[in-house]
Amino acid sequence: MLAPKTFVPRTEWVAGGGRYTRLGKLIGGFSFFVLFVLCATQLFSIATTIVTTIYTTDLQTLLLSFPLSKSTYPTSLTRDILPKPIHSHNDYWRLVPAYTAISYGCISIEADVWEYDGELFIGHDVASLSRNRTFKSLYVDPLREMLDLQNPDTEFTHPPHSHPRFGAGNGEEEEEKEDVEEENGDEDPVGGRNGIWDVDPGQTTHLFVDFKTPGHNTLPVVIAHLEALRTPVNYLTHFNGTHVVHGQVTVHLTGDAPFLSIIANTTYRDYFYDAPLRDLASGRYTPENTIVSSGQFGRDVGSVIWGRGMTEGQKEIVRTQIEEAHRRGIMVRYWDTPGWPVSVRNAVWGVLVQEGVDLLNADDLKAASYLDW
Ligand SMILES: *[C@@H]1O[C@H](CO)[C@@H](O)[C@H](O)[C@H]1NC(C)=O
Ligand SMILES: *[C@@H]1O[C@H](CO)[C@@H](O)[C@H](O)[C@H]1NC(C)=O
Ligand SMILES: *[C@@H]1O[C@H](CO)[C@@H](O)[C@H](O)[C@H]1NC(C)=O
Repeated sequence: MLAPKTFVPRTEWVAGGGRYTRLGKLIGGFSFFVLFVLCATQLFSIATTIVTTIYTTDLQTLLLSFPLSKSTYPTSLTRDILPKPIHSHNDYWRLVPAYTAISYGCISIEADVWEYDGELFIGHDVASLSRNRTFKSLYVDPLREMLDLQNPDTEFTHPPHSHPRFGAGNGEEEEEKEDVEEENGDEDPVGGRNGIWDVDPGQTTHLFVDFKTPGHNTLPVVIAHLEALRTPVNYLTHFNGTHVVHGQVTVHLTGDAPFLSIIANTTYRDYFYDAPLRDLASGRYTPENTIVSSGQFGRDVGSVIWGRGMTEGQKEIVRTQIEEAHRRGIMVRYWDTPGWPVSVRNAVWGVLVQEGVDLLNADDLKAASYLDW
């Protein structure tokens, strides 16, 4: 057995050790350098993204830079956006039309759908259609993603949170959700969940689906493609056979949409008809099948002459139509309102808002959203 003091390190070990240490230092130094460069590049790219997104107020850019699921404070998605009674029309040339409309505070968006072989393509005409611009990818999925984000499933949402207007939070099981739905009154949204709007979580988002292809083929596909807004969480405003239960998204079918097929199911429907405003007197349209009715401004009210504004007679038509619809419990939207000259457009918007129109059709979202009501 060797005593500790007999152990003497041999010189060649030390020398060899020195060589290895130098090599080790070199390797270590090099790895550190590589790591440093990698981190610096990463940090630089993150910083660039942050700077570019901070200096843009466009929700579109924001959402594309930061995928929804990665944002840090989930329910602040639309925190600075004031929801406005604007119907966003003709915005499908945007990358994700729904985001653009919502970034301007439009509570109503429209999708022009073309049905081919069970798929719904989005575009104003056939030439503009493309394989990956579908009803689902541009409207249904973005809405679903935003709503999921506004309704995080956390430990805090299980005990009913005390929002002054809507009591209950998310149910843990699907059955519980059904219960909450049934307990809620007529005016409460489905399951007491938040809508897209942070400043007004009770505000629904209207989704108009304009049928560009024959209704009998298109309708079943539209109904099927809304599924992501129906399960596992039902965000859709629906008629349950006796009552309309308000949800976070309200679907209105327009264009070639077939009224009789739409109302065929008398026990459950989560889509509504966009009835012609001037036909309300027919009595066919009730709040159970029509939530919003639309008037074609040029046809129903007439053209507006530059410099003169709307005549008293025209204002009277608008007033009567809006009163008639509201008396029936149906909301009003006008489309085909003059877009130019701007002074005429703004004057007409002003009158419509004053007379109580519920949704204002706008192609120029920026102008409409900045108008001083
Ligand atoms: C699908 O969309 C992406 C952009 O999101 C685009 O770059 C691509 O060309 C599209 N593909 C087709 C087939 O349209
Ligand atoms: C329909 O909804 C109303 C109001 O939420 C509720 O009272 C009623 O029980 C529901 N009916 C069915 C069949 O679910
Ligand atoms: C009505 O719709 C509900 C829900 O989709 C479905 O379960 C039911 O079978 C439909 N009723 C008829 C008569 O089609």
